[in-house]
Amino acid sequence: VPLAGLIGMPVAHSRSPRLHGHWLRRHAIAGHYVPMPVMPEHLAEVLRVLPRLGFVGVNVTIPHKEAVLTLADAVTDRAALIGAANTLIFRPDGKIHADNTDGYGFIANLRQNAPDWQPDAGPAAVIGAGGAARAVVASLLDSGVRELRISNRTRIRSEQIKAEFGARLTVYDWAQAGNMLDGAATVVNATSLGMTGKQPLRVPLDALSPGALVTDLVYTPLMTPFLLESQARGCRVVDGLGMLLHQAAPGFERWFGPRPEVDEDLRRAVL
Ligand code: ATR
Repeated sequence: VPLAGLIGMPVAHSRSPRLHGHWLRRHAIAGHYVPMPVMPEHLAEVLRVLPRLGFVGVNVTIPHKEAVLTLADAVTDRAALIGAANTLIFRPDGKIHADNTDGYGFIANLRQNAPDWQPDAGPAAVIGAGGAARAVVASLLDSGVRELRISNRTRIRSEQIKAEFGARLTVYDWAQAGNMLDGAATVVNATSLGMTGKQPLRVPLDALSPGALVTDLVYTPLMTPFLLESQARGCRVVDGLGMLLHQAAPGFERWFGPRPEVDEDLRRAVL
């Protein structure tokens, strides 16, 4: 019986077990997906032992996403560029392969829910410069966005991203974040603001044009205050749940065989 799972700290509230559990049932695979809380000082040991217990791979979450890169035997280009991995494959020869599918999930969600979205229709504006934002920036540039604006409360983090990702980026001060929405065709909240129990994102949306596609990485609630206000201004909005669903698909396929489907059934199973 093939085993996969999630390593992180904490992992108790993760939706991934429900997500993969749904796909395992749907495909009648006698496997399991196990959430495993792992402390940083145990990470290396856990990664050595899991393959011997029958694990074919794991997802990785906070606080291990960066550390696993140094423990893996092979790292994909996109994981190296982002500086973090979310998917590990334990190969039969004992080697650990690390990938980052967050950017893929981000783009696949937009393509599925806004099929007419065009990355090169105009500038993209990314709010936030944390780990999730790095994956979003990498995938937007890869998809053909020609101008990418970024703003973060802690300015140095956006400057770091510009230093790594290059000339197509412009850094905006946090106090000027509203201005970067002017003329933007794609707008992304990649901060944790708007999540249940947190403050809402308070970037002024007056400069937002109704033709923009607006999306949020926060999916609890599905419709964040930011998405609701953008929608009220006439924008097309895509919620963040689909990114979670799509980023999981490549891992499931590598571990268990079938390419799983991302549909309404899955959304219901995960919510
Ligand atoms: P993740 O991996 O989910 O991106 P992270 O690296 O901790 O997590 O990043 C969280 C993002 O939300 C950052 O952009 C963070 O801004 P800072 O870099 O200034 O910390 C942003 N964020 C979180 N709380 C915030 C708040 N109260 N105001 C503004 N930005 C906030």
